[in-house]
Amino acid sequence: MVTTQASFSRDNLTENPERIRELSRQVSEMGEWFHNIDLNGVLTAPNHFLGDFPNVKWKSIAPALPLDLGGASVLDIGCNGGFHSIALKKRGAGRVLGLDVDDRYLQQARFAAQVLGLEIEFAKCSVYDVDSISGQFDYVLFMGVFYHLRYPLYALDKVIKKVKGCLVFQTMVRGALTSPDLRDDYHFWNTEVFARPDFPCMYFIEKKYAGDPTNWWIPNHGAMEAMLRSAGLEIRAHPEQETWICAPTQVTKEDGRYILDHELAGTL
Ligand SMILES: C[S@@+](CC[C@H](N)C(=O)[O-])C[C@H]1O[C@@H](n2cnc3c(N)ncnc32)[C@H](O)[C@@H]1O
Repeated sequence: MVTTQASFSRDNLTENPERIRELSRQVSEMGEWFHNIDLNGVLTAPNHFLGDFPNVKWKSIAPALPLDLGGASVLDIGCNGGFHSIALKKRGAGRVLGLDVDDRYLQQARFAAQVLGLEIEFAKCSVYDVDSISGQFDYVLFMGVFYHLRYPLYALDKVIKKVKGCLVFQTMVRGALTSPDLRDDYHFWNTEVFARPDFPCMYFIEKKYAGDPTNWWIPNHGAMEAMLRSAGLEIRAHPEQETWICAPTQVTKEDGRYILDHELAGTL
């Protein structure tokens, strides 16, 4: 049974150890959490292998976003336990919609939002079906999902259609951590350029990385920035090694159609 949010307000909790025990029990009943969220004093993943995750990363990313989101709409793709949806709602976002494919994570996210008394929608939806969500959002978060996909650029080109103002993009990055200064074109027989360690590339993981068989493609820094630009985004900020804040500037062609639609039609 999920207890009502009112009974978990911070005052109630600090005054009532029984409530803390009950909340802790409910948190652990929901399985292992990937997001460590502070539920009024009860932490959902205090022993996370990456530390206080994702707060450790969010501390670097958060200053790059407005403190007051003034009712802006937010779409959080691959929302997991809802950490980022919650963080943006607390900054004054209006509609916040979190999507994920994993029922356990969605259950955790709904529970966390309820305990914190925040009105956030969570829905089961794959990034590949994001077109089924109507309209565009002022902020789209696409964090920690890209490298879990077999078709990452296809997904990114889809995600872009949902971005009205700003895309917060995060991926695992391996290899060179700088972007090369490349010419627009190279002769067919120039093969040396590919030997540069910073040449844009993605590492394909056939089996597992970090014990996870869903880590498919891991870009280096140059590849990630090149893909973001190639998708029609302008990079506005790079607050930490794995995160880019982008705005859609050239996501459609002269005829107003998106890159994805041109590519699928063979007209790009
Ligand atoms: C590494 S976690 C990242 C969670 C969160 N966005 C963050 O940055 O901390 C990846 C999340 O993406 C979700 N995911 C994986 N494949 C997905 C897909 N095709 N569509 C939507 N979410 C997906 C997983 O269920 C998981 O919650």
